[in-house]
Amino acid sequence: KEAENQMLVIFGASGDLTRRKLIPALFELYVRRLLPEKFIILGAARSLMSNEEFRRKQSDYLSASSNISLNSKELGSFLELIYYVAFDTDNCKEYVKLKEMIVSLQKEKDIPDNIIFYLATPPAMYEVIPPFLKAVKLNVSLHGGTRKIIVEKPFGTDLKSAKRLNRKLELIFNEKEIYRIDHYLGKETVQNILVLRFSNGIFEPLWNRNYIDYVEISSSETLGIENRGKYYETAGALRDMIQNHLMQLMAFIAMEPPASFDPESIRDEIAKVFRSLRAFSTHDCHNSVIRGQYTDGEVEGETVVGYRKEKEVAADSNTETYVAMRYMIDNWRWSGIPFFIFTGKRLKEKRTEITIHFKSTPQQFFKGQCAGSSCNQLIIRVQPDESISMKFGLKIPGAGFEVKQVSMDFYYDSLKKDKLPDAYERLLLDAMLGDSTLYSRSDALEASWRFIDPIEKEWMKHPTRNLLYYKAGSNGPRQNLIGPEIFDSGNKTKCDVSDN
Ligand code: BG6
Repeated sequence: KEAENQMLVIFGASGDLTRRKLIPALFELYVRRLLPEKFIILGAARSLMSNEEFRRKQSDYLSASSNISLNSKELGSFLELIYYVAFDTDNCKEYVKLKEMIVSLQKEKDIPDNIIFYLATPPAMYEVIPPFLKAVKLNVSLHGGTRKIIVEKPFGTDLKSAKRLNRKLELIFNEKEIYRIDHYLGKETVQNILVLRFSNGIFEPLWNRNYIDYVEISSSETLGIENRGKYYETAGALRDMIQNHLMQLMAFIAMEPPASFDPESIRDEIAKVFRSLRAFSTHDCHNSVIRGQYTDGEVEGETVVGYRKEKEVAADSNTETYVAMRYMIDNWRWSGIPFFIFTGKRLKEKRTEITIHFKSTPQQFFKGQCAGSSCNQLIIRVQPDESISMKFGLKIPGAGFEVKQVSMDFYYDSLKKDKLPDAYERLLLDAMLGDSTLYSRSDALEASWRFIDPIEKEWMKHPTRNLLYYKAGSNGPRQNLIGPEIFDSGNKTKCDVSDN
């Protein structure tokens, strides 16, 4: 399927996301001849700039980016697809100017009236821009064309604000035209969870409470908050990473096989997982959350400051930069099986990984045979060093029966020699094609906030209670314990993994 000829209008075009992610992804798509035959990108932002200046900036960023191999002829012709309009997003009158620009570009380039609006602006603008688009009738096509709007995260800060935003957008666009982006779903390794599960006969029979002991999803980062203090103070790790990215990973792991592989069937199953999450309660030892904040330390050989000393962060901030959670999914497949999520900034290493821990054999016959749940593991490494590994025990050659844990590993190089495509490439292309499988639907999004809200509320009630500190560059709070054992060393949160 080829994408129809169209125009992409990026609001917030002078920002970081456009420069770091969107333009490089579009350039890659261009090089791989995946963009529509007739296509233009119209950047819109407040800064006064000519087309030429905007193009030059994008060209400089692209050339400086080490991830992109540049061919100057291709770069030159790609830049010709880019236009810029300086306008004040807060001012309704300016949208008339935007409309005129769009119409004249469509005429000049002979592009049909198909438009994608991309909101790469600060979240406060998500409720401002769409009504103005409606005011100048840019939200509908009078010529039988299509409209789509892509909204970046954060989509709300709690259930109430997410609902409000959904309702506002739904007054202007229909649900099918709204694309809520979560870049984790654009990652090859994440999409492969679906293929691993639903294209192989060997995993699905084991993929349930009878054979799986627990599931671990962890995402550690070495990065800090990168000059995003203002945003991060209102977010914290729970909203920044868990409510969206890590819950999406969990949904792909936990969902039922869809009725068919169409966007709505898949999104139905994702929504069902979120609706089955056991509501958080401080009285339930199977549900626990630990939060932490980094202090001064050293990451990858560099001295870094603690969170409270970061720019635009309050000196007495209680915002969490680390979260460890244990929670349950109350449905037939997962009843009694704990799920663990870990995420943190300024940790020792960057690694996102999902580990399925299978139950052990009922008896141990062999010397060295491992017991418990760390024997048979399926490890899906999302990034870096993308891979999938299966761990099991085998006999060491020679006399007797001594067992050693071994690993069977798959690396992506065997499927693809060059680098894996960036998440934004896949997602932008899907939006152009009108495929929303990898975008969040409003009901799933609201269900994810319904799960997160009680935790945030509890923390707001007790802002400093159980906020643990960890040194930047360490494995996180609690004496460097990593994985589920972190919960066993807590006092009230103690809940044995096998006790369910
Ligand atoms: C973003 C968060 O959505 O995802 C960042 O706002 C985080 O804080 C980033 O660093 C992680 O993405 P990735 O693709 O580098 O794992």
